Amino acid sequence: MKNRDLALEMVRVTELAAINASFFVGRGDKEGGDKAAVDAMRHYLNTIDIDGTIVIGEGEKDKAPMLFNGEKVGTGNGLSVDIAVDPVEGTTLMANGQPNSIATIALATTGSMLDPGRSFYMDKIVVEKQAKNAIDLSQSPTKNLQEIAKALKRDIRSLTVFVLNRPRHQELIKEIRSLGVRILLHDHGDVSGAVAAALPDTAVDVLMGVGGTPEAIISAAALKSLDGGMQCQRAPQSSQEEKEILEEGSDLSEILTLDQLITSDNTFFAATGLTTSSFLRGVRFKGNQTVTTQSIVMRSKSGTIRYIDGIHNLDRKRTQVNFDVNG
Ligand code: FBP
Repeated sequence: MKNRDLALEMVRVTELAAINASFFVGRGDKEGGDKAAVDAMRHYLNTIDIDGTIVIGEGEKDKAPMLFNGEKVGTGNGLSVDIAVDPVEGTTLMANGQPNSIATIALATTGSMLDPGRSFYMDKIVVEKQAKNAIDLSQSPTKNLQEIAKALKRDIRSLTVFVLNRPRHQELIKEIRSLGVRILLHDHGDVSGAVAAALPDTAVDVLMGVGGTPEAIISAAALKSLDGGMQCQRAPQSSQEEKEILEEGSDLSEILTLDQLITSDNTFFAATGLTTSSFLRGVRFKGNQTVTTQSIVMRSKSGTIRYIDGIHNLDRKRTQVNFDVNG
């Protein structure tokens, strides 16, 4: 298989994960939906000609069923890759039937993804290409937004920032609002927020605030393809997390650039909408045996971004994976 053909294979992985998890949308069962997506991802990944190692398996933070770190996937033939997965990014959104949940995966040359170690949370800033030299996490949010507005040649009050709705962001929200800048407060899903910030033509210009470390690394794979700007800083949310990060020798003041989050310039990112987000339609049922999906896939080597619409015949897909509503 040619390197570039992997992009389409990644879409098949996220499509299948989203379809399998879609049976759980709105059913109030986070674990069931996550497991359905994990099972589908593992199943399809193991049919692909790659020598893959899961280096970021979502779940340790909240004890979710996971594709575990160190797990080998693929047939063992072909490109040797690090894989970061978030089978359902936004498990609560899925369980509640709310917008913005996606199934997502990122690939990069082996050994190139940052090892998150004991860091579960990072402070993040993400912008599109035109503003990539304007961001500096060591500066205040105000300074960053002023510089971003300048780089984009926009009035600062026309900017829209994606922020996770968390008590830890009270001061950040106050500061952003004091500039007249608009905020989209989201309950979950900062991978979607990061991708939306970097894509042209979405409602989001900037992502700011603290979210998951695995989500930061997955987002970085997309940012490499989009040639956007991204910086992160470890932001422990408990004294235990802080202690463990310091014990492993990581520096809390270090500002991580995109090239430190993923050192390789050979990255792939794919996502399929599970529920509808600002840039992807969610899975739709068109009768008992037909569902439609919308996915985005990108590859840093070419910089091509593709949106892929799928119409799937579940009867035939049943041979690939079990669509089992009861998990
Ligand atoms: P899950 O899919 O694991 O529920 O994570 C959703 C999410 O909102 C991410 O988008 C975000 O990076 C992280 O959780 C934030 O963590 P927390 O909810 O602990 O603030």
